[in-house]
Amino acid sequence: MFLRPTGKLLAINKHGCAVITQRLNSWWSQVQMGPPDPILGITEAYKRDTNPNKVNVGVGAYRDDNGKPFLLPSVLKAEKIMMSQNLDKEYLPISGHAEFCRLAICLALGEGSEVLINGLNATAQSLSGTGALRMGNDFLKRFFPGNKIVYLPKPSWGNHTPICKFAGLDVGAYTYYDPECYGLDFDGALCDISKIPEKSIILLHPCAHNPTGVDPSLEQWKELSQLIKKRNLLPFFDMAYQGFASGDIDRDAQAVRLFLKDGHKIMLAQSFSKNMGLYGERIGAFTVVTDSQEEAAKVMSQIKILIRSMYSNPPLHGARIVATILGDSDLRAEWLKDVKGMADRVIWVRAKLKENLKKAGSTKNWDHITNQIGMFCYTGMTPPQVEKLIKEHSVFLTKDGRISVVGVTSKNVEYLARAMHEVTK
Ligand SMILES: Cc1ncc(COP(=O)(O)O)c(C=O)c1O
Repeated sequence: MFLRPTGKLLAINKHGCAVITQRLNSWWSQVQMGPPDPILGITEAYKRDTNPNKVNVGVGAYRDDNGKPFLLPSVLKAEKIMMSQNLDKEYLPISGHAEFCRLAICLALGEGSEVLINGLNATAQSLSGTGALRMGNDFLKRFFPGNKIVYLPKPSWGNHTPICKFAGLDVGAYTYYDPECYGLDFDGALCDISKIPEKSIILLHPCAHNPTGVDPSLEQWKELSQLIKKRNLLPFFDMAYQGFASGDIDRDAQAVRLFLKDGHKIMLAQSFSKNMGLYGERIGAFTVVTDSQEEAAKVMSQIKILIRSMYSNPPLHGARIVATILGDSDLRAEWLKDVKGMADRVIWVRAKLKENLKKAGSTKNWDHITNQIGMFCYTGMTPPQVEKLIKEHSVFLTKDGRISVVGVTSKNVEYLARAMHEVTK
């Protein structure tokens, strides 16, 4: 058969004769090739590279010191318990696993939270942190009575802008990072936030800011809370790393809890990808804090309408794992140790990388590697330096110079440090 550009086909019939048949034109011929995802594309390039010393410090998923994915022992135990219970696979309610939702929001807000005691939260299970953010933006698009603009820190996680825009919201930005000192530009942040139009939405990373690894101190959070209150902004917290930043779940949630104490009616996206290593289970929660139980019920009813039309109801397995862990005091204590173990490895790796850069002969100041916190380190390497690192040393990372610290191991840290020194000297 031959395809004619006219949309006609030349086919051979059963007598061996050529006949022209009409071919329907495609509906999709106008679709252009989209760009590959900037972060997930890194792993593809890494896989293709044949250098035996290659290093992947691009993707944000925890690895152990052998560079292998890590199944938390507490998660494994929870799954064994679940297996022994012969549970069914019925649909969950639209808003998800009720016990999971209760335990998840309690983990974020703390046991004695006034919001929880008074039933002021509308919480639904979500398709991890990303799904919670999308649900939040869809909700804002429909119901937020103020300016439908989400102000993001500069820089922010690369997926924030598309999530907001695909939901139909506009995106603004406020100063966050200071490239001179590789730290927080607090004055710049205060200055920009004080100019955000009242009744807009501000997105905040409560801990382990992605991509910079730079968090405000508690004192700075207090000032931010007062300013955000004065500007009458809606704080939307994206908490993807509770426990993963400092190893202490309460410490990592302090900004969220402080804002609630100050009277903010926040929105919150939670993820269990990192702190329980449940990446592929897609388990998280979305919460709106309201003024009354009546308001919470109305908000919940609308969230359910949104969910019903998107995916009807969420998946079961991850919710059961989280609920089993958080609902059992022994297992929960074991999980807290697992999280602390991951956070401690990250802190150790940061110190090792700095030490090895010095050993490799670098005289640059790399203190920011250990000053920053969480999964990512904003190294300060420029795009040409990053390109050299990829091309000449097979070290794969994002163009902004961000390295995922969890990809560093005792085996590759020396090679990585030497390569970083080569391109930055
Ligand atoms: C800041 C931030 N928010 C949200 C997410 C979403 O992750 P997930 O959808 O796996 O929970 C991530 C993941 O990297 C992140 O870094």
